[in-house]
Amino acid sequence: MKRSLVPSSAGAAVRALLRPNVDALRAAGIEDSALNAYQNRVDRGVKGWMHHATATGDLMLATSDADAATPEGLHTLRQLGADLGGMLAKNKLRNVVLDAQPAALTVAEGLALNAYRFTKLFGIKAKDQWSLDQLDLVGADTAEFAQWKSLIEGVAEARDLINTPVLQLGSMELAARTEELAQEHGFKCTVLHKAQIEALKMGGLLGVNKGSVDPPVFIALEYRGEGATQEHPTVLVGKGVVYDTGGISLKPSNFMEDMKCDMSGAAAVIGTFCAVAAAKLPVNVVGLIPATDNRLNGNALVPGDVITISNGVTVEVLNTDAEGRLILADALHYAKKYQPKLVIDLATLTGAASRAIGPYATVAMGTADRPTWNALQASAGMTHERLVEFPFWDDYKDLIKSEIADIKNIGGAEAGMITAGKFLEYFIDYPYVHLDIAGPAFLDRPVTYYGKGGTGVGVRLLTHFLTAQSRA
Ligand code: BES
Ligand code: MN
Ligand code: ZN
Repeated sequence: MKRSLVPSSAGAAVRALLRPNVDALRAAGIEDSALNAYQNRVDRGVKGWMHHATATGDLMLATSDADAATPEGLHTLRQLGADLGGMLAKNKLRNVVLDAQPAALTVAEGLALNAYRFTKLFGIKAKDQWSLDQLDLVGADTAEFAQWKSLIEGVAEARDLINTPVLQLGSMELAARTEELAQEHGFKCTVLHKAQIEALKMGGLLGVNKGSVDPPVFIALEYRGEGATQEHPTVLVGKGVVYDTGGISLKPSNFMEDMKCDMSGAAAVIGTFCAVAAAKLPVNVVGLIPATDNRLNGNALVPGDVITISNGVTVEVLNTDAEGRLILADALHYAKKYQPKLVIDLATLTGAASRAIGPYATVAMGTADRPTWNALQASAGMTHERLVEFPFWDDYKDLIKSEIADIKNIGGAEAGMITAGKFLEYFIDYPYVHLDIAGPAFLDRPVTYYGKGGTGVGVRLLTHFLTAQSRA
């Protein structure tokens, strides 16, 4: 999709106008009868788009009194953009000039997110796919537009990574693609390979990888924007299980195909780096991604095995499908060397998180202070990537005690998302936020601006949060 800023006089076959005035409508070639019909809708308070065919082309009209300064208003405006995307797709319209000041970028955000399609793997079907080829925005601010574009591309990149099957995106391909993106967007990427991972004694990552024929990788990203005043970095950790079969504790076959999404945390971190670096934000940020598939072969971990994480904590693996926490443990320990101001991890960690609140929000917990939580919640509201904070009480720690090792990798039937979080707490010594994105990361039906498949949830939240932090 090409996106550009155009002056208000630009003509095009398809125009979408938010809150048009009479002059703009006449200029767009609309006749008085249609104008009256539109005015009538406005007077009755009807929201949403209406479609007109005029002599000069298609015209979409909508009104909204949403206030772009509030979470609810922003969401309404993005949803309006998403609805426009639906209309354009239905009518197979590929180019649009969007005239939606002062909310142009917000409406366009919803439109661009809605218009995303994963078409890379179409063969003979490629030629009849609809795509939004050109989105021209009238009159937005140039600098804001550039930032908007970086964000949209960061989200799309995350979604592409998630939607790509493991056959095309194993651990090595994930590392290679991340290196490419680092080059393109201007951040640093270091890939640690198996020998280095062994030297670091990352027993969690190596343990999960034992059942795989592909080697593990540990990807470290660094970006320090010009003018960044923050001394200690914010570290983002992303779960990079490129495919989760469950291992010897094999998952049932229904929906197993969705488990290509188990690197959505990694994708969110990579997408955020793309957005932040492309926009040249003055922030100091590190990204850590432990990556492997979780498969089974003759040498795979079995339930009952005990492994040692890089910080010396021993773990009784009672279920090989609770693999995310094992690889995150090594990454969270590794994060200490950066003396981080804050560490946020994102992981498709538990079905329990998804069952608790569905695809509508992320389960959050941790040890960060109130001001940090307030800032995160503010960003969550403004981006509609909502967070629900769960307790992080030590009571839940008792549920992962082991008889033969320091801890075990599963709790019981209760509060699975919290026992997973408390497991991770063994590997931190800094302010910490754990985001379990199992619900919103990958959709089986459209929700708000997102269609089926990978959403890239986390990119918009983190980019907003980091931007706000850089201004604080
Ligand atoms: N990747 C899964 C969690 C998941 C489930 C993500 C659904 C996205 C959608 C994770 O590795 C897993 O299998 N978790 C287990 C943990 C259990 C064995 C303690 C789960 O939630 O069932
Ligand atoms: Mn699993
Ligand atoms: Zn998993």
